[in-house]
Amino acid sequence: MNARTMDSKLKQIKGTGKSEELFARAKELMPGGVNSPVRSFRGVGGSPLFIARGAGSHLWDVDGNEYIDYVGSWGPLIIGHSHPDVIAAVQRTAENGTSFGAPNPLEVDLAELVIKLVPGVEMVRMVNSGTEATMSALRLARAYTGRNKIVKFIGCYHGHSDALLIKAGSGAATLGIPDSPGVTPSVAATTITVPFNDVPALEAAFKADGKDIAGVIIEPVVGNMGTVPPKPGYLEAVRRITRDQGALLIFDEVMTGFRVALNCAQSLYNIDPDLTTLGKVIGGGLPVGAYGGKRKIMEMVAPAGPMYQAGTLSGNPLAMVAGLTTLGKLAEPGVFEGLMARTDELVGLLRETLHRLKLNYQVNHVGAMFTLFFTDRPVWNWDDAATCDTKRYAAFFHAMLRRGVYLAPSQFEACFTGTAHSAEDIDHTAQAAHEALKEVCGC
Ligand SMILES: Cc1ncc(COP(=O)(O)O)c(C=O)c1O
Repeated sequence: MNARTMDSKLKQIKGTGKSEELFARAKELMPGGVNSPVRSFRGVGGSPLFIARGAGSHLWDVDGNEYIDYVGSWGPLIIGHSHPDVIAAVQRTAENGTSFGAPNPLEVDLAELVIKLVPGVEMVRMVNSGTEATMSALRLARAYTGRNKIVKFIGCYHGHSDALLIKAGSGAATLGIPDSPGVTPSVAATTITVPFNDVPALEAAFKADGKDIAGVIIEPVVGNMGTVPPKPGYLEAVRRITRDQGALLIFDEVMTGFRVALNCAQSLYNIDPDLTTLGKVIGGGLPVGAYGGKRKIMEMVAPAGPMYQAGTLSGNPLAMVAGLTTLGKLAEPGVFEGLMARTDELVGLLRETLHRLKLNYQVNHVGAMFTLFFTDRPVWNWDDAATCDTKRYAAFFHAMLRRGVYLAPSQFEACFTGTAHSAEDIDHTAQAAHEALKEVCGC
């Protein structure tokens, strides 16, 4: 890797030999050398960085290089890496045991806080990942309505359960495998896909299959084709159609929850979903997911009701306390507003840079997530996102990395800001973006 070309307090990139050695070893041991696909850098080429530590908004790789981080473990670390309060709470809690497989008080505390913060959630069940949350929410929608089919949107990603790996975004889109082999045709046949931000397409799906549709699952702001907001009135239409047709509306807020607004996307757009799925921020960097919603629906979940779902480590005290501490910090007066203002500032500077360089690329932004799309076309759905120049994004990603800025290693992912990003981080990032765009666009 080349040295940084800009004036900065961040130290010079010294090379990434140790990461490369580790990746060579890892590839012999793990498929693609990783435990989750996008981190392999397949979307941008080159060798992934192996991370030694993180503090606040910064990461250090095993070679000692320092980066400003806009991945934040793909969203959970909204108050920064190794936040002292989270670390202290986890350490204190661990001294009393890591998991009991029996109820513990922290589960009740986190459930109470989640119900207070998420308007559509009256009852909640904790699980260990976003995938478990969405998979369970679909089962619940089927159990509640007695119907079999679900609707999802092309380019949305809801984790890797079979029914949801159809026209999926995120890593599946990055790697060009939106419909995974191994998903049986009978499962695939129960998933109907329609384009995002397209009301007539959803109406047509209900016209064709309405009596069989148990639920519609949607990322209210898509993060998994890059950041794509709903058009004005779109979510209202989705709510109206599902209500009229007796299907449940499932807001997948695994990414948007506590990120686009403290009270989630449903508060930002004033929509009342039947079920909500959560993940990422709710666990503060430890493995947590959750699904919740209206009491009469949630009471179908075992042991209150007949729909079975369980988890050995669900609600474990370490994960609960990390989530509680993170949400508690975010909810402190002024904290979320500060995060919004800082993100607005960064996005404003990026747009200004594009304007100055006469580049007509798109910056989409909602709350603390944003994406710079390398396309001239406004991005409202997967067809628009697919027009991006992914090769140029890859070159930009590496040009930013050389300047000490770690962005999402795929065009089809959102970048995340957090409360630890400082004014200096934002200035450095904007300056780096200016130089990197000039370099890769030849302007
Ligand atoms: C919207 C959404 N739903 C579900 C998931 C799956 O969550 P997990 O990776 O924790 O299984 C993700 C992951 O990125 C997501 O972005």
